[in-house]
Amino acid sequence: MMRRLMVLVPVLLLPLSASITSTTTPDAPAYTADGAMKLPDNYREWIFLSSGLDMNYNSAAPASGQSTFDNVFVNPSSFRTFLATGTWPDKTTFILELRSADAHTSIDRRGHSQSTTVNAIEAHVKDEAKIPGKWGFFEFGSDKSARITASPADCYTCHEAHGAVNTTFVQFYPTLIDIAKSKHTLSPEYLKDASFPSPSPASR
Ligand code: HEC
Repeated sequence: MMRRLMVLVPVLLLPLSASITSTTTPDAPAYTADGAMKLPDNYREWIFLSSGLDMNYNSAAPASGQSTFDNVFVNPSSFRTFLATGTWPDKTTFILELRSADAHTSIDRRGHSQSTTVNAIEAHVKDEAKIPGKWGFFEFGSDKSARITASPADCYTCHEAHGAVNTTFVQFYPTLIDIAKSKHTLSPEYLKDASFPSPSPASR
């Protein structure tokens, strides 16, 4: 009898533990009681996609002359799905972290390195149950939670018009763009942008 019980107990526990893990996927977006998105506190342990330097949404140079890095991270489970499919699943969360470019730090004489202070943080999230347009932007600044940026806004317009995959800027993420090409998941908008004369028609 005792032996039979010992076999039964783990079987009975299984569905319970499975349902706990599925509702608390560690890298899914989380929200406060009043619907603001919580800044994921371990995003620095996520997958690093790229650092843009002085990528600017306006062509005008920054008045201050201060250069800025933006670091892009994505949650690991969505990254793995992207490797397999070339698209982003529900609950994908990107974090964009802005840091000033420092000069003459330590032994560096002529390059730039990233400041220890974070200037601002933004997120781009796919949450089909919570966001009417599926994808939403959140501007945290230096706060730990942020309300969704209401649409229409520049964020949505530019990402929808130019993002290479699912309104995200995969064309700037060097380990991902070739996956999107091989899986044929590039957006028509990006392909239109990319149809300017190719530098080397021979390289296919
Ligand atoms: C004029 C175009 C443009 C506008 C407007 C714009 N972005 Fe972006 N965004 C970009 C580009 C280009 C990148 C790629 C950055 C890189 O490679 O480092 C990017 C990347 C991002 C990412 C990383 C995930 C992704 O989608 O690729 C986030 C988060 C983000 N932007 C948030 C915002 C928010 C919030 C706003 C509005 C306040 C905004 N963006 C407005 C062009 C734009």
